[in-house]
Amino acid sequence: MSDHSPSGSRPLIPGQINAWLGAVIFSGLAFLVIAYVYVANRPQGGADTERRVAQKALRADAESKAQALLTTPARNPDGTVRIPIQDAMALIAADNKVLGKIAPPVVAGAAPAVAFVKADDEVMKRGAAVYARTCIACHQPTGKGLPPVFPSIAETPIVVGNPELPIKFITNGLMGPITVGGMTFNSMMPPVAGVTDQDISDVLTYVRQSFGNKGNPVSVEQVKAVRAANAARTAPWTTAELGLK
Ligand code: HEC
Repeated sequence: MSDHSPSGSRPLIPGQINAWLGAVIFSGLAFLVIAYVYVANRPQGGADTERRVAQKALRADAESKAQALLTTPARNPDGTVRIPIQDAMALIAADNKVLGKIAPPVVAGAAPAVAFVKADDEVMKRGAAVYARTCIACHQPTGKGLPPVFPSIAETPIVVGNPELPIKFITNGLMGPITVGGMTFNSMMPPVAGVTDQDISDVLTYVRQSFGNKGNPVSVEQVKAVRAANAARTAPWTTAELGLK
């Protein structure tokens, strides 16, 4: 209530705020006007369009060079692939997505085109636990199985091949003649009971990166999709049905 209380200066504060607000709004409007003038007057048509067309042509050229390089590469007298520097530049210039669409040349004995992705330690740990619980009795701690009854899954092609197959036969079982490592088996792998989509993705990732195998991780989404697409299936898969011999 005293005359010396700070309340005497109070009316000034809203006034100051008003001034700041005014300044902020003013500079905002000024910015909008400048932006509008800039956008309205930016160079149009002519030069810009030409530049874009030229870029597109350059890109198409780079892509066709990349395609030629990948499908019919030049070769040295000894048969190895020769990549001239300008072609390598074209490859680098071409869009990765385009490169992805071009089938790589089939070279006998060549390394797989897909880059190897190492699985997380956590996934490997979980996968090892699922393996110990559901596969180890037959395929053994070494992955080498117990021939002539249980086949090896160490460095065998099915293990690191299309994961759709093992997802199918882990879920429903597998029977019929199958040759693994030069030995023909004709027994049955029963459906693996009590495994979730996560368990299957973990255990497949684990076996694909253990026992000398080098296959990429299998995702839960892959497992889910394959199992959903075959949900009506109850009978074990036969090796013939899956194209296995
Ligand atoms: C009860 C024994 C048994 C269990 C448990 C078992 N399998 Fe098998 N597995 C077999 C037999 C037997 C075959 C061959 C089937 C045939 O003759 O058609 C086979 C085949 C396979 C094959 C394809 C052939 C090869 O050797 O590459 C893979 C891969 C495989 N099993 C992985 C697994 C995985 C992973 C698990 C655990 C999730 C598992 N199996 C559990 C017995 C078993």
